Amino acid sequence: MAAQTFDDRDGWIWMNGKLVPWRDAKIHVLSHALHYASAVFEGERAYGGKVYKLREHNQRLIDSGKMLGFDVPYTVEQLDAATNEVLKANNIVDGYVRPIAWRGSEQMGVSCQASKINVAIATWEWPAYFSPEAKLKGIKLTMAKWRRPDPATIPAKAKATGLYMICTLSKHEAEAAGYADALMLDWRGQIAEATGANVFFVINGEIHTPKPDCFLDGITRRSVIDLAKKRQYKVVERAMLPDEMGKATECFLTGTAAEVTPVASIADYKFTPGAITKNLMEDYEKAVRA
Ligand SMILES: Cc1ncc(COP(=O)(O)O)c(C=O)c1O
Repeated sequence: MAAQTFDDRDGWIWMNGKLVPWRDAKIHVLSHALHYASAVFEGERAYGGKVYKLREHNQRLIDSGKMLGFDVPYTVEQLDAATNEVLKANNIVDGYVRPIAWRGSEQMGVSCQASKINVAIATWEWPAYFSPEAKLKGIKLTMAKWRRPDPATIPAKAKATGLYMICTLSKHEAEAAGYADALMLDWRGQIAEATGANVFFVINGEIHTPKPDCFLDGITRRSVIDLAKKRQYKVVERAMLPDEMGKATECFLTGTAAEVTPVASIADYKFTPGAITKNLMEDYEKAVRA
């Protein structure tokens, strides 16, 4: 049986202020966003019917829009309410939420001063797939050949569609070689992040993570740093070079989708998911359902 596609489903999508039947949530082929990557989005997760850090995600959507030079035409309160409305309409309890804001089809060309900003919010079921025991084995990563760009070349800290071109290329290359994901360095050769998640290392019992000065400062990343501090773990945010991975005993990824995912290896560097990773996995699991 063919996999269920994302355009052909039952349900409702919130689009420009109202719920529309899922299959009718369409845009024209001459939409600016499709040609020029003028779109920003979020990835959120509902646990027990409630989106974890909903306000932070919707605020980041608005902030990302500003970094691309446009105003999302809804307040953060309106976006929160719309999210809850679409979750309810689709009876989603444990699910993923995907808001997106994009430039429409009023104008076609690099300049798009007259284009309208559209917003849609979709949601679908997404239960937890892996048991903590299975997760604790850790995933295997390779090194990506693409690097996170210099913030002087692109709005690097926006959650903008254009920035995902190198993520998809890196993820595809990793998967084709039998890895789950790839670690990306930044333009300076420092450790940056995975293709859709931030990265942490345990070195001498302390938690070290790259400073997010040219990539997404994940909402999960910030939650996990707070949880680590509550446990009195020392957290160091700093520039990290790839050969430092040789000193790390544990490694994990954080992200809305990844949650806290232990890493068993990155290229030839091996890690053993241990107490710190396990504790933070458990703390995060509790926090999202609190
Ligand atoms: C490139 C990238 N980095 C990091 C993250 C983690 O961000 P968050 O924890 O806000 O989901 C994501 C996930 O959206 C991402 O796509």
